[in-house]
Amino acid sequence: MADTKTATLTFDNKSFELPMRSPTVGPDVVDIQKLYGQAGIFTHDPGFTSTSSCESGLTFIDGEEGILLHRGYSIEDLAMKASYLETCYLLLYGELPDKKQLPEFENRVTMHTMLHEQMTNFFRGFRRDAHPMAVMVGVVGAMSAFYHDSTDINDPWQREVASIRLIAKMPTIAAWAYKYSVGQPFVYPQNSLDYATNFLRMCFAVPAEEYQPDPILSKAMDRIFTLHADHEQNASTSTVRLAGSSGANPFACIAAGIACLWGPAHGGANQACLEMLREIGSVDRIPEFIKRAKDKDDPFRLMGFGHRVYKNFDPRAKVMKESADEVLDLLGIEDNPTLQVAKELERIALEDEYFVDKKLYPNVDFYSGIILDAMGFPTSMFTPIFAVSRTVGWIAQWKEMISDSSKIGRPRQLYTGPAHRDFVALDQR
Ligand code: CMC
Repeated sequence: MADTKTATLTFDNKSFELPMRSPTVGPDVVDIQKLYGQAGIFTHDPGFTSTSSCESGLTFIDGEEGILLHRGYSIEDLAMKASYLETCYLLLYGELPDKKQLPEFENRVTMHTMLHEQMTNFFRGFRRDAHPMAVMVGVVGAMSAFYHDSTDINDPWQREVASIRLIAKMPTIAAWAYKYSVGQPFVYPQNSLDYATNFLRMCFAVPAEEYQPDPILSKAMDRIFTLHADHEQNASTSTVRLAGSSGANPFACIAAGIACLWGPAHGGANQACLEMLREIGSVDRIPEFIKRAKDKDDPFRLMGFGHRVYKNFDPRAKVMKESADEVLDLLGIEDNPTLQVAKELERIALEDEYFVDKKLYPNVDFYSGIILDAMGFPTSMFTPIFAVSRTVGWIAQWKEMISDSSKIGRPRQLYTGPAHRDFVALDQR
């Protein structure tokens, strides 16, 4: 159905009719693309709290209801009933794969998991104590220097090859960043293993000893990947789109996304959250930290709580919580101080007036760290694992953008600096 609604903007005794557009689901949008040309004014929305930056058919979030859909399928269904690579296929190509398409896709990804051998030199160039995210930003950016046959963004085939390469190689890059940091030899991918098991093996096997993860751990790892696969126009995805809009190659764009994800308000929150739980240390210290979180003069925030879009339970957090219980049960971790603090913090925050009024619920990062910690990952690997998972979202959004629009992303500003000033020569200042 054609969009027929309009909105009227009135100022200085002039009125402007602005077209409105209706999405499949979600709030209508006012289309202001021609506003500056017609009315000579900009709109101002620094944190993009009310601004739609693109058209997308990939992911839908209803933050009030706590709903997350990929191509129409709920995240709960995908996390519980589909594998990560099935979800990748869905995000990339719009439909769930059939029985023939899935093994073909899995095979295509598996055949690209190795890295160019010369890339090992990149890892070795870093200090051993480098954060794995620093290594990932560098190594993924460097991929554009190795895979010249997949950097032409105008060639759909090259875009496709770059997409598969990134999804396939990201676990190898993250695992090798970890191996390098602990001084162990790199473990090469093994084609007979599924995506999640392969990643666990590359992280935890050593030449002296084989590693065979329990299928429950592989499933939990796969579910963590699925739960982070895409999340609409979040900061890192918008970064990838913006970088891509200039025509930059896909490896450079994804490196930009990784850099943005690193921040503690975004993907870095999973590391920050577990470190916070450890810093709190014991249940009796929770009130002190809750007090600090409420204090306007204290920059401290409860990490793993709150979300720009969700004003309800993050649906990913619900599934993650179930997974955490399964993994802790399997590993026989009944209660440790970190877990006790997490459970009590969750209980208090869900009842506390400040958190209830501001609708600050636990987000996905609150529970993922608990599982990853139990699996044996150091906190510095939490955000790299998020980056591995989100690569498909970044890539799918990037591909969608390239095929939809050729316009460079270029916001305007509300300038508050001095107006024109006459230059004053140095000897007169
Ligand atoms: N602890 C204490 N107070 C908080 C928190 C928190 N975690 N989050 C928000 N608030 C308060 C904030 O002080 C503000 O209060 P007031 O209205 O009185 O000024 C109000 O709630 C709204 O916060 P905001 O900063 O305007 O909200 P935002 O949408 O800009 O920020 C957020 C969202 C996720 C950055 C923020 O909630 C936060 O910093 N949370 C902690 C970090 C975190 O867990 N991030 C992971 C997000 S989920 C994974 C991902 O997307 O990467």
